[in-house]
Amino acid sequence: MINKCTCFLVLISFFNTASAQEKNIERKIDSLISLMTLEEKVGMIHANSSFTSGGVPRLGIPELITSDGPHGVRVEHGRDWDYTNDNVDDAGTYLPTGIGLAATWNTKLGYEFGKVLANEAKARGKDVILGPGVNIIRTPLNGRNFEYLSEDPYLNARMAVGYIKGVQDQGISASVKHYIANNQEKDRNTIDVNMSDRALHEIYLPGFKAAVLEGDVNTVMGSYNKFRGQWAAQNHYLINQILKGQWGFKGVLISDWGAIHNTMEALYNGTDIEFGSEFTLPKGAGYNDFFLADTVISLVKDKKVPVAIIDEKVRRILRIMYKTNMLENAKRTPGAFATPAHFKKALEIAEESIVLLKNENNILPLNAKKIKTIAVIGLNAKRPHAFGGGSSHVKAKYEITPLQGIERYFAGKAKVVYADGYEIKRGAVANPQLINEAVKLATNADQVIFVGGWHHGYDYTKWEEKAYDTEGEDKPDMKLPSGQDELIKALLKVKPNTINIMMGGGPVDMSAWIKDAAVVVQAWYPGMEGGTALANIIFGKTNPSGKLPVTFPVKLEDSPAHKLAAYPGTNGVTYYSEDIFVGYRYFDTYQVKPQFAFGHGLSYTQFKYDDIKVLVQPDSTIKITFNLKNTGKKAGYETAQLYVAALNPTIARPVKELKGFEKVWLNPGEAKQVSVSCSLEAFKYFDEKKSNWTLTKGNYQILIGASSTDIKLSGDLKF
Ligand code: GLC
Repeated sequence: MINKCTCFLVLISFFNTASAQEKNIERKIDSLISLMTLEEKVGMIHANSSFTSGGVPRLGIPELITSDGPHGVRVEHGRDWDYTNDNVDDAGTYLPTGIGLAATWNTKLGYEFGKVLANEAKARGKDVILGPGVNIIRTPLNGRNFEYLSEDPYLNARMAVGYIKGVQDQGISASVKHYIANNQEKDRNTIDVNMSDRALHEIYLPGFKAAVLEGDVNTVMGSYNKFRGQWAAQNHYLINQILKGQWGFKGVLISDWGAIHNTMEALYNGTDIEFGSEFTLPKGAGYNDFFLADTVISLVKDKKVPVAIIDEKVRRILRIMYKTNMLENAKRTPGAFATPAHFKKALEIAEESIVLLKNENNILPLNAKKIKTIAVIGLNAKRPHAFGGGSSHVKAKYEITPLQGIERYFAGKAKVVYADGYEIKRGAVANPQLINEAVKLATNADQVIFVGGWHHGYDYTKWEEKAYDTEGEDKPDMKLPSGQDELIKALLKVKPNTINIMMGGGPVDMSAWIKDAAVVVQAWYPGMEGGTALANIIFGKTNPSGKLPVTFPVKLEDSPAHKLAAYPGTNGVTYYSEDIFVGYRYFDTYQVKPQFAFGHGLSYTQFKYDDIKVLVQPDSTIKITFNLKNTGKKAGYETAQLYVAALNPTIARPVKELKGFEKVWLNPGEAKQVSVSCSLEAFKYFDEKKSNWTLTKGNYQILIGASSTDIKLSGDLKF
């Protein structure tokens, strides 16, 4: 479907809003374009190596150099996977992955995360960092959930905007991905995703909309899947109408690698650069065989396509090049790579990402002085994860595993013993010999720490190990792999106060042992300082403050996308029949009790909420204040969450929706008046008939909670 008039409407809307400075840049772009040959223009709109697109050296236009990934700058591989040049020092900072960043609920850390990443990328000579990944987590099985942020559109947007600003304030471009509805890896290159307009606007677009309108993101990466029958990366509705039309996006729409399938659709539906590599090209084909390469030159020469279409794409590319000091010999600040300051930030983010899910009898924090022997059990205790997961892999300067973190914490003051407990290979089941070994160590230890959960493949090439959190594959179910359930049960029998640490990109089915487990900690993939962060939390140097950015279901069948059999689709087509009821919107509305709720996370101290006031300001902003007090003995953070609820709605609406949060530090006994506000927009729903956001008159509630199910205060509102 080709809509030329929309393309030109986009152009007109842009010029009406450009500032003087922008107009000056546009004039410079005009003159550059006027000097370019057709071949030079086309050379800029497709890849000319695995991670670059063409420049025009004679006019001082450099290639655009992109790099994965969302939580660390990828290992060098030459222009086309030429790993022979092994002597590069490309081992850098390996940050906690996206879902861990979201679990901090700390937008300032999101900014810091982006800043570290950008400085590392800039120091490595990259112009675009291919992140953040903001696809909504709608099924626990998606192999790339570890790279993404949340099930909730508001938290997703807040963390994405912080990250993008952190990146782009350092003078390089972010690339918010994957636009849109790349919510599963199964059949990711072919699946045709369908959903209602409400689901699209209320759940799946907000992260991208905030990235554009608030984060001013320079590039957006179109995804592999189809959307409503048309490839997403060359999709008229998504790109021309929504992204560039409604949102006025002035940057560059790049395709995912090999996500373009058709020249004319890509030309007219808003694809600005076609990326891919020799792995995505047909055998023997080269970069000039891309859909937006030589074919386009012929089409323009044969007057089948106006050159203006190509000029608009080149204009956008030049626009972000000016914006990121790539032209006229402009200089960027140098950046910094693999520095102690970055490692320290990685530790800070890791500490705030870790979620204390259960802590019966306040077993944590452990008193190291009382421990003579500690048994650390589980392969994930010593397994590095940086280099796994697919395109987001990182060659880390180092990676402190949980075992190393615990050993370093004790520094010889106590005996640390270790056993694998389970094995990681395809089809692995409980291994009685390994379990016996582990139980023996546990029996003779003062304290046991189990570290299990999901894992990446050991590295990008060793496919014999079943990877669970990886690009290109979804998990088969929520069951812990390698018979870990049996191991955990055996350990709990001899040591009920075992500390159970789960790593990975999302929930596991804990039903086999959760009732007997006193302590459960979610660590995600906590990055290069993950082991240090875990030790600091386990032994109380740091008070945990992480909160779940996704619901942890009791079992997979409880999860809405599975309950309604909307995953993974049939015959290449899926319809998101859970609609807007994703995550806690489903669990809380349909009263399905989760194992652990969205927004849940314990602390070593306690907090008291009271004295809520709801004030409607003259500008219709709703300002909520309440008192928050640390009634415990340790200083710590609390993330108070603001949900809105429509009472007796006339249309289907979730019983609550997150529309604000504040992360507050309080010393023991300290109280603060917390203020959080939202606009009338927070109470609207997307009316499909009007194709617009609508506020219906009626009664509403403001809910303040420590999680989506732990509501502490409420206030009434009437519109
Ligand atoms: C991959 C991923 C994308 C990544 C790109 C470049 O297939 O989907 O996230 O940035 O290709 O590696």
